[in-house]
Amino acid sequence: MDKFIVTGEVQLKGNVRISGAKNAALPIMAATTLCSGTSVIHDVPDLSDIRNMIAILEHLGAKVSREGKDLIIDSSALNKVFIPEFLMREMRASIFLMGALVGRFKEVRLSYPGGCTIGPRPIDLHIKALEKLGANVKEKHGVIIAEAKKLSGAEIVLDFPSVGATENAMMSAVLANGITTIRNVAREPEIIDLETFLNKMGAKIYGAGTDTIFINGVQNLHATEHTVMPDRIEAGTFILAGAMSHGDVTITNISSNYLFSLLDKLSGIGAVLTFGNDFIRVKANQLHNTDIKTLPFPGFPTDLQAPMLSLLTMAKGTSIVTETIFENRFQHVDQLIRMGAKIRVEGRSAIVRGVNKLTGTIVEALDLRAGASLVLAALAAEGTSIIKQVNHIDRGYEMIEQKLQSLGAYIIRDME
Ligand code: EPZ
Repeated sequence: MDKFIVTGEVQLKGNVRISGAKNAALPIMAATTLCSGTSVIHDVPDLSDIRNMIAILEHLGAKVSREGKDLIIDSSALNKVFIPEFLMREMRASIFLMGALVGRFKEVRLSYPGGCTIGPRPIDLHIKALEKLGANVKEKHGVIIAEAKKLSGAEIVLDFPSVGATENAMMSAVLANGITTIRNVAREPEIIDLETFLNKMGAKIYGAGTDTIFINGVQNLHATEHTVMPDRIEAGTFILAGAMSHGDVTITNISSNYLFSLLDKLSGIGAVLTFGNDFIRVKANQLHNTDIKTLPFPGFPTDLQAPMLSLLTMAKGTSIVTETIFENRFQHVDQLIRMGAKIRVEGRSAIVRGVNKLTGTIVEALDLRAGASLVLAALAAEGTSIIKQVNHIDRGYEMIEQKLQSLGAYIIRDME
């Protein structure tokens, strides 16, 4: 398992380009199975989660090739609807195939998805949406079997604005007979990107970005071309790295529209932000405390909770960070305490008392965003840190050490 070796107390300075969004690319890749033909997807980051999705598509019979940042996916010969456990357990996004394969083939067999250990990650909302459209879903020995004689448009109301359930419902409904209304949907920007891709395939969807999505089912879809939206979570992570290191960092290929909740918090604690239509610049010296509560978009994103908490460990005063989306998303806290942070977790909140400095030590990345928060802490800490299990970080951050090195960071990967 690779490790990062980081020497801290470096003020990050310079420009970094944000990659395409992992959480937009993954459902879009799944959506290519809804038709036969060759789709071209631009600006797809080279991440382990993306490589896992490619492995699943190839297992199903699709042909996938990468040319730089472009993925060429030919799903003409796609002829399987069973995804074995060893492919499903690698990541949560494998569940998107359930909606897409039921949408096109009216059947799928797969096991429960894997992914970061940030909570139980149930899929009851996904299954309920499929059943509303007419699918029969049952579970036998850990394998989920979903079948439908036909899919008919329906009125679906999600108990919670789940990102994945929204995306699965969209992909199941685009080929159903009739009109589908999905209420209480997730409003994340990645949902809009999926709607754009599906409409380019010939679907008739509108409403993504609002709390209700309308779908008029069509007979078939065709392959298309699309550029994935930028990764707002990678962008937020680099903005936080620049602020926490008291540096001067400009990130490009990003719209501030996707990050206003983070930018509002940062400007409120003393960071100096300037932005244009495709860049954000952050400068910061001493920062002070604030309270954070994660919420579905447009609230503060749960995926930036760990990196933000890392910054607050060295902010002046006491902050309260409340995680309302996932049940177990404070795995970074114990690791930050090893670096000298003063944090106490009570239920779904972490009380963070700012300290003047953190000290480098050996820490372990336990999930994707927890790992990112440890990189930020190590960059600001006194001395050298070793971050173990960086495979978790590689799931969601393309070339993170090279990008940080270009900003002046002392970070190297020790390959084991
Ligand atoms: C997506 O996960 C993202 N992953 C997550 O990013 C992100 O944290 C999350 O949305 C919230 O924004 C991808 O897009 C691949 P949810 P997803 O369904 O779809 C509960 C990262 O770091 N729930 O919105 O799994 C669930 O338990 C990853 O990039 C049900 O109860 O998130 C959780 O508490 C981590 N039943 C809450 O909803 C269901 O059927 C939010 O989950 C589905 C979800």
